[in-house]
Amino acid sequence: METAPSQLPEVAVNFALTWDGRISTRNRTRADFSSPRDKHRLLEIRASGDAVLVGRITQETEQMGMGIADPALQAGRVARGVAPEPLRVVVSGSGRIDPNARLFQSGHAPVLVFSTLKMAEATRLALEGKATLHLEAGSVNLRGMLQTLRSRYGVRRVVCEGGPTLLRSLLEKNLVNEINVTFCPLVFGGNEAPTLTGGPGPFLPAAMECRLETMETIGKECFVRYQVVKPQ
Ligand SMILES: NC(=O)c1ccc[n+]([C@@H]2O[C@H](COP(=O)([O-])OP(=O)(O)OC[C@H]3O[C@@H](n4cnc5c(N)ncnc54)[C@H](OP(=O)(O)O)[C@@H]3O)[C@@H](O)[C@H]2O)c1
Repeated sequence: METAPSQLPEVAVNFALTWDGRISTRNRTRADFSSPRDKHRLLEIRASGDAVLVGRITQETEQMGMGIADPALQAGRVARGVAPEPLRVVVSGSGRIDPNARLFQSGHAPVLVFSTLKMAEATRLALEGKATLHLEAGSVNLRGMLQTLRSRYGVRRVVCEGGPTLLRSLLEKNLVNEINVTFCPLVFGGNEAPTLTGGPGPFLPAAMECRLETMETIGKECFVRYQVVKPQ
């Protein structure tokens, strides 16, 4: 039986976009085109979650530690009665997680990996003591993952920081509640650099409608938050 949406954590996503809607270069290199203010906003949004979620490629490309490198934000969380930093969650169908990644070298919150039985035995062994593995036969069931985060780990809000492949999968399953976007004053051009939902490909099953919640301009950037309007 499918979990009722009310039993799932809410999912907020956060991306930086160029004015032509690109989130990275065509080679999907590290996306570092936003300002220091945006990078701090990313930490603020991250700090609002019980878990921070990324796809394997973003984790690798950005060499993310996925922690909150701001004592004030950590203190704010503790004052709210939650752990200083959110759980760190990585999704990978292939299981090709690098056990030596920065993610596992920094002593932040626990790491959870949602993957499949395709993960090599050597990787599973190397991740022992570094991450909790949730391995499924077949593919990763994102709704099931969210359900597990809620029921086993008490997660009520997930902050997803990409990438586009993961976002597209979440949107296809109608699992996204909030979209945070930073519009950066750059134009990449071309059609190979990915957008919010990846490279050129099929349309989503249905157009996603959003309600504008906040819009703030700081310096040369525009910070926008949308609420996803769920179909009736
Ligand atoms: N501008 C921004 O704000 C922003 C934010 C995030 C990322 N980026 C950029 O985006 C680029 C990476 O894009 P991407 O689409 O490749 O990143 P991604 O979504 O982080 O990673 C894709 C990988 O994540 C795993 N994955 C995603 N959805 C899955 C699902 N439903 N089930 C199982 N596994 C799933 C798969 O791993 P396996 O291959 O292991 O199966 C897949 O190959 C980088 O250049 C990065 O810098 C930009």
